[in-house]
Amino acid sequence: MPHTSAMVETKYKRILLKLSGEALMGDKDYGIDTDVVKSIASEIREVHSLGVQTAIVIGGGNIFRGVSASARGMDRAAADYVGMLATVINSLIFQDALEKKNVFTRVQSAIEMKELAESYIRRKAVRHLEKGRVVIFAAGTGNPYFTTDTAASLRAMEIHADVILKGTKVDGVYDRDPMKEGGAVKYDNLKYIDVLKAGLKVMDTTAISLCMDNNLPIVVFNIKETGNLLKIVRGENVGTLVSS
Ligand code: GTP
Repeated sequence: MPHTSAMVETKYKRILLKLSGEALMGDKDYGIDTDVVKSIASEIREVHSLGVQTAIVIGGGNIFRGVSASARGMDRAAADYVGMLATVINSLIFQDALEKKNVFTRVQSAIEMKELAESYIRRKAVRHLEKGRVVIFAAGTGNPYFTTDTAASLRAMEIHADVILKGTKVDGVYDRDPMKEGGAVKYDNLKYIDVLKAGLKVMDTTAISLCMDNNLPIVVFNIKETGNLLKIVRGENVGTLVSS
């Protein structure tokens, strides 16, 4: 079913939403909080119903963190492949949640697993978006040593998204970790180069560099706050905008 044509003018026509695996945990330490998944799916449905073409990249950290496993002695490449499988689990769960809300979706995996999902084919992904399907990109870039943030940047570029919307647990980018230190100050706007220079925790440097080289804006925002996603696509200043 094609999505409803836009009645409301939106700032962005095609978005790539990056969700960390941790965003799906809610207040748990591990795994998936079904209520959180349902609530994020509702937010996406709202944005999608305005005619915004929506692609999603989901991390896997709620199930398996490749970097931590390699710190504990596991081979980094092996750990990253397990992490990529974790993103497939999250993607399939998210697909189900969206379809329960009558949002049509397609999952495309960077690692071929035909019985579970389509393989990643850029032109097909773009056709799906044009037909009003939400496309979920699973298995990261399909390569170890690349994060799902980098996958989000790469896919956003490939599908010519207008922006990456990075949903996190905090309200934006701060000068220091607001979860750990008091008095942290939030930035409303940042330049890519300042993010890199100051080592601010927005996305990893590969992902930021890719966005910088291709002039793709990033909005970092709190996905836990209901309505934020809608506000951003309508052009309200929510979170932190990283651009040139
Ligand atoms: P259009 O033909 O452009 O409308 O796209 P479509 O996705 O509806 O057509 P297609 O016949 O390719 O897909 C029909 C259904 O099969 C969709 O739900 C796809 O996600 C699914 N599908 C397509 N290719 C694969 C695949 O390689 N593996 C899996 N598991 N499902 C697939």
